[in-house]
Amino acid sequence: MTVAEDGAPVQPVTRMVWRLTERPRPAGPHPRLAGIRVLLIGGEEDIAAGVERELKEHGALVRREPDGPGPVDAIVDLTVGRAYDPDPAAFAGAWREALTETVTALRGVYDDWAAETTADRLFYLAVSYLGGGMGRHPRDGLEQPLGGIWAGLAKTLHREFPNVNARVVDIGLAASADLPGIVAAELGRTGEIEVGHRDGRRFTLTPEDRPVAAPALTLGPEDTVLISGGGRGIGWELARSLAARHGVRVVVTGREPFPSGDEPWFGVDEAGWKRYEKEVWAGRTKGESPAKTRARLARTRRLWELATHLTGARREGLRIEYARCDFTDRAQVRELIRREDALEGGRLAGVVHNAGVDTSARLPKKTDEEILRTVEVKIEGFLNVFEEVRDRDLKFFCSVGSLTGRLGGMVGQLEYAAANDGLARLGQWAARRAAFPVMTLAWPTWDRIGLIANFAATLRYMAAIDVADGLERWRAELLGASEGEVTFVGPLGQAIDPGQAIGYPVVPALPGFATAYPKIFHLGEVTAYQPHAHMTARVVLDPEHTPALGDFRVDGAPALPPSLLLENALRAAEWIVPEDFPALTAGLLEEIVVPLSLLRPDGSAIRLVREARGFHEGHNWVVEVRYRREGPGTAPRRACASSTRPARPGHPPRRVPPSSRPPPSAPGRRSCTGAAPWCRSAHGRWSLRADWWPRSRGACRPTCGRRPSCPARPCRSPRWRTWCGGAPPRATASRSPPTH
Ligand SMILES: NC(=O)c1ccc[n+]([C@@H]2O[C@H](COP(=O)([O-])OP(=O)(O)OC[C@H]3O[C@@H](n4cnc5c(N)ncnc54)[C@H](OP(=O)(O)O)[C@@H]3O)[C@@H](O)[C@H]2O)c1
Repeated sequence: MTVAEDGAPVQPVTRMVWRLTERPRPAGPHPRLAGIRVLLIGGEEDIAAGVERELKEHGALVRREPDGPGPVDAIVDLTVGRAYDPDPAAFAGAWREALTETVTALRGVYDDWAAETTADRLFYLAVSYLGGGMGRHPRDGLEQPLGGIWAGLAKTLHREFPNVNARVVDIGLAASADLPGIVAAELGRTGEIEVGHRDGRRFTLTPEDRPVAAPALTLGPEDTVLISGGGRGIGWELARSLAARHGVRVVVTGREPFPSGDEPWFGVDEAGWKRYEKEVWAGRTKGESPAKTRARLARTRRLWELATHLTGARREGLRIEYARCDFTDRAQVRELIRREDALEGGRLAGVVHNAGVDTSARLPKKTDEEILRTVEVKIEGFLNVFEEVRDRDLKFFCSVGSLTGRLGGMVGQLEYAAANDGLARLGQWAARRAAFPVMTLAWPTWDRIGLIANFAATLRYMAAIDVADGLERWRAELLGASEGEVTFVGPLGQAIDPGQAIGYPVVPALPGFATAYPKIFHLGEVTAYQPHAHMTARVVLDPEHTPALGDFRVDGAPALPPSLLLENALRAAEWIVPEDFPALTAGLLEEIVVPLSLLRPDGSAIRLVREARGFHEGHNWVVEVRYRREGPGTAPRRACASSTRPARPGHPPRRVPPSSRPPPSAPGRRSCTGAAPWCRSAHGRWSLRADWWPRSRGACRPTCGRRPSCPARPCRSPRWRTWCGGAPPRATASRSPPTH
């Protein structure tokens, strides 16, 4: 099992809310607009025509037909439209049509965009109309609350197209006339993914750790809590917890009728279920495919879980009931609430919209209907129940969201992330229209519960939350009558992409900051990227962000300490990992060659181009990192660092004689021919240790002195000390993603 970096699969989470923070406005259209081939989709005609005109004025080539000729470099997506129509039929039709248009455009560019390796060609820019503050500014009108669907989609696009620069730009209706200028200024830039424009200012969202409020309400036997889809998964865990801890009556729901009790599996325990499964496989009719049998068993298993949960709870005296109700059907939801109203003594005190589905597959592998279905359950499910209860005196309304909405989803979760961010922003809209608190809780993966098909794979993205901890936190949010979107963030895993790293402000309060930040700090401006294979980046080391720049001298002049360059190389190597994301530590640092001229600043800063390439060599995963000065004619001034680590846990790193390495002529690889190793470090760890530095300085001369092996010692200081010597640079207080 792959674990999140530096730890166990389950780790503590931090409660974070995302607040508006101001960012500088771009000075004007980016020069990249000249000649960029833009596909403009959706939008009311006057708005779309204005955007088209403006982009053309700046040299862009704009077309409106998704199936037109030639490649597309940028999609400007205006499909969400400005006005929200509360009529259920019109509403459902509008978002489905808009999302289908978006998906059609993405399918059209898919092969080209998925294969692109340069990092500054592809752009996706969607516009939402929440008010310019992404629904979080107190004066945001949230005129069109569905923009979150496109925000969640934009934040996950990099999982389909690793080099797309996605951005979702939020404005208010009143700023519609400014939209063409705003689009022209935002298109073609990298950096922040979520941007809002209001009152002439430009915002993004920054996480902040905030404790939950003290309990503001009580729950007791007189209360009923309705949980959509609470018959299993995390909804069931909450149902049990509320019934057991507070004595409340809980109504859980699902789309299936409750089992009759005559089924051969009804009432059996886990061992009995296993026996039943075996019997099904043994008695399978010849014509039935294994996939069909698996699907049949999966559905039966869901019913078995539901029955087991409900009958067990009844035995324990917990007041949990099951009602069949498809939350995407307004009539069924209305009927359910009506039945509840008719019950004597029952008081609907709270609603938890927890229903959700996920078809985890890349875009080409799923149908439009599957995509719409995932969004529908969250979005229309929410509206159907909210509209039925909005005038009531509820104690709370809680939506069950996911960090995939806030931070972007995993591979295969494009529309799941869209659904979840849509849900969170819809919750902000609803909060303005209800007298009760409306909250959206955005969870990471729970420890092996619920719809997550591949738990181990989720850990590549973030550690999981402990079930008992999640339940305590969930109850605390309900009792604390929380409002708005609350996120529970664990340490990031290895699967963070460069686009994500610069797409969000990274603050010290984020869990795992000390591990993640050096990697992000040293990322540089990526110019080419192929996941699991290579990355090219511009690296600028200047005195403001790299105070150690003058601590080293070459011929008496201030220069870059070689240790810092090596740290940069090691951090670069962390971005290039094998496809199965094994947990790795650096085993060897070898063939480190540092031409001294590379270390001299050009003016006050050092500007380098760094290339990192990863490849398997036997059991080892090797990453080669090379630098050259930026600019023409500087290619020979190159530092090489190559690190080797065991690709398979349990296999010690295998020294590979240079002669057995891929030849220098291998595609895309260059050798440091003639360069003698400066230092080798055996069994080192990834970070360049502060106390490694003096040892190498004393023993290995930068002028290609040779030393067979420099074992690295364990680090006694926090990792960031290795690159900034004392304290993180000021910029770490809230890293401002660069925009280019
Ligand atoms: N598990 C996690 O790690 C995790 C993490 C973050 C967020 N979440 C969120 O937590 C919620 C619960 O997910 P889970 O992981 O516990 O998955 P789960 O066990 O599959 O539960 C999903 C529930 O939704 C119900 N459902 C689906 N479509 C429905 C519809 N149209 N109407 C009514 N009910 C419907 C299902 O019931 P039937 O199939 O019987 O209809 C089932 O009870 C989801 O919203 C999910 O996005 C889960």
